[in-house]
Amino acid sequence: MLSDSSLLIYFLALGLPLLFIIRRHALSPRAQRPAVTTQTDEKKSLKTIMQPPRDDLDPPNYDPITLEELAQYDGSDESKPIYVSIKGDVFDVTRKRDVYGKGASYNIFAGKDGSRGLGKSSLQVEDAMPDYSTLPENEMKVLDDWHSFFTKRYNIVGRVTDMPEAVSQKLSATL
Ligand code: HEM
Repeated sequence: MLSDSSLLIYFLALGLPLLFIIRRHALSPRAQRPAVTTQTDEKKSLKTIMQPPRDDLDPPNYDPITLEELAQYDGSDESKPIYVSIKGDVFDVTRKRDVYGKGASYNIFAGKDGSRGLGKSSLQVEDAMPDYSTLPENEMKVLDDWHSFFTKRYNIVGRVTDMPEAVSQKLSATL
């Protein structure tokens, strides 16, 4: 039987670091940063867990692509690049094959537009869908944070032409 003090030590040693990781990352990319940051704070916290923003990106290239065409860039063919679409913008994530490639942790978002799952902070395959129109405002914000995260780290190489009707309307309203 564990005494109260060993339980407390277990909690502090195992529970706190886990809570820290989840708080800083899983809820949204924004959750990594305190509400008010200096540039140095931001750099420091990003370095801990996520890749930092890049300054060597190409100008966005909105080549039209359909969801069906996008599916071939899901990492299953090593000779092809890997694409992730967010709100219809297609990002080339090939340099992170270890994260998005076949069998990797975030392969669920590869070769598709999984905006809904990103907004919901969900890794369920049924959530990785392009229709994010019914997300509540807080999840919409999470999705926008992911879009901004990717925009600062990956080249935009295309634009999905057949997003579901419900979100196409939202997208054209913001263009
Ligand atoms: C306990 C839960 C989680 C932990 C510990 C965790 C941890 C991490 C770590 C360490 C990375 C950096 C990987 C790398 O760059 O090599 C990462 C990236 C990422 N995480 Fe999570 N994660 C969690 C949950 C989630 C959930 C629920 C989502 C769903 C939206 C998610 C979406 C992502 C995405 C999209 C990236 C890739 C960012 C990039 O392209 O650099 N994570 N996660």
